Amino acid sequence: MTASTALDWYAWHAPYDELVSPLTRRLALVQDRVRAFLDTAPDGGLRVVSLAAGQSRDLLPLLIEHPRGADVRARLVELDPRNADFAEGAALSARLAGVDIVVGDAGLVGAFTGALPAGLVLACGLFDTISPGDVPTTVATLPQLCAPGATLVWTAGALPAPLTATVRELLAEAGFTEATIDAGAVTPDGADAPVEFTVGTAILTGPPASPVAETRMFQLR
Ligand SMILES: C[S@@+](CC[C@H](N)C(=O)[O-])C[C@H]1O[C@@H](n2cnc3c(N)ncnc32)[C@H](O)[C@@H]1O
Repeated sequence: MTASTALDWYAWHAPYDELVSPLTRRLALVQDRVRAFLDTAPDGGLRVVSLAAGQSRDLLPLLIEHPRGADVRARLVELDPRNADFAEGAALSARLAGVDIVVGDAGLVGAFTGALPAGLVLACGLFDTISPGDVPTTVATLPQLCAPGATLVWTAGALPAPLTATVRELLAEAGFTEATIDAGAVTPDGADAPVEFTVGTAILTGPPASPVAETRMFQLR
């Protein structure tokens, strides 16, 4: 994450609690994709990892409501302990035994040791938060987190924006085949311009890579 962002990452989640906001709309798309993964996943245990998971508004509600939720072992890595506490509280109150919430640096592959290879990788709110210079390394390293045929759900800003195009190209180079790409835009109350966002799904059709714990994908915020 970039050192220049003095964002309060707990407060950042507040628009999830509004009736309609860019984050609620984005969340609906992300959850559609996670639900589709769970709907079609093969029988047996499922592994999920979430990079910079925040409060896990995307994954935890689905693990609670979906019949396959109990089959999931998830590793959520989040740097801000307040967000991790939020997620921990939700997981505990729903008795989700398979969810492992780690307060730590998701930029290191080693943060996911013991939770790999994952069939579902969540990179939501990641690419537009880390330094642009870290995006290529991060994408190129994602196969280290993946099982063969893994699903990646990712988000970024506006669809036509350079970052989104770059992520799509880099994913293809890293062995991912794009499955879905959705764009949305919502104008927050009081704002003049819409906030645009993209939610993509990609399947690892190329080979996974062996995880190397010391590999750094992105720097601390
Ligand atoms: C844009 S938010 C996205 C949160 C969540 N994935 C979502 O989409 O709702 C970015 C999150 O990354 C966390 N973060 C920042 N640097 C991190 C790091 N090095 N490792 C893990 N999490 C980090 C922040 O605390 C924040 O919760």
